[in-house]
Amino acid sequence: MARIIGGLTTSHVPSIGGAIARGEQQTPYWKPFFDAFIPVHEWLAKEKPDLAIVIYNDHGLNFFFDRMPTFAVGAAARYDNADEGWGIPVLPSFEGDTELSWHMINGLVHDEFDITMCQEFLVDHAFTLPLKLMYPNAGPTWPIKAIPVTINSVQHPLPSAARCWKLGQAIGRAVESFPKDLKVVVLGTGGLSHQLDGARAGFINKPFDLMCMDKIVNDPVALTRFSNREIIEQAGSQGVELMTWIAMRGALSGRVDTVTSMYHAPISNTGGAVMLLSNEPAPARLAAE
Ligand code: DHB
Ligand code: FE
Repeated sequence: MARIIGGLTTSHVPSIGGAIARGEQQTPYWKPFFDAFIPVHEWLAKEKPDLAIVIYNDHGLNFFFDRMPTFAVGAAARYDNADEGWGIPVLPSFEGDTELSWHMINGLVHDEFDITMCQEFLVDHAFTLPLKLMYPNAGPTWPIKAIPVTINSVQHPLPSAARCWKLGQAIGRAVESFPKDLKVVVLGTGGLSHQLDGARAGFINKPFDLMCMDKIVNDPVALTRFSNREIIEQAGSQGVELMTWIAMRGALSGRVDTVTSMYHAPISNTGGAVMLLSNEPAPARLAAE
């Protein structure tokens, strides 16, 4: 059976791609953020996950304001990156797993999530950079397969935190009922607090971010009680990317341990955070296998 062995959350600012391209990982500005991935690399080398489900928000590369699915799931054999501006290099394509994609899509629709299923899907910095941070030395091919899941966080109305939590739970159920042996890691990319435009451009709320990092581990349901308006007030208009973290955590049903956790602000305009949680699948799920 497929098993979710862990969850990784990270900020995904495009300038990470620029820093990698210029080899700036060890400069004083970037070192705290890039060094946060050292324990992640050690964990990946030990656990060797087969596939990453990447929960993120598209920024206009694959979906634009004319057609904006609330939730979308990739069902492609291959996911290409494309030039989205920002001056960051285009990264090699990612191999998908159509069998698991369709299994997830069936599970999500069964669980009353009317998702958009996409057999073509361009992936942006919020998908590619976290995988590049996980596998900085990957050559033209990646050591892991990947499936994109997007949550609309750019065009209102946005789904609620409670709904994103339930989406994550449904993803968890779907993955852990997949009959093939696969080690899966679930990513939630985005956040934490940031606002890129308007009167509060540059807004970061460190106390709120640290509270979210604590709750993600110890009491994730507490985060589902925030309204979208409250999250935007507390974390800035792009701080709603927190939804991706909440969905990731919903997919972890078992005993969760913190492998590593780092907060450093700002990176670019954002409260930068990285967390890796291991997940010991719940006995009920193991018994069902
Ligand atoms: C920044 C952060 C983001 O999440 C993003 O998608 C683009 C830019 C930033 O901090 O610059
Ligand atoms: Fe973003």
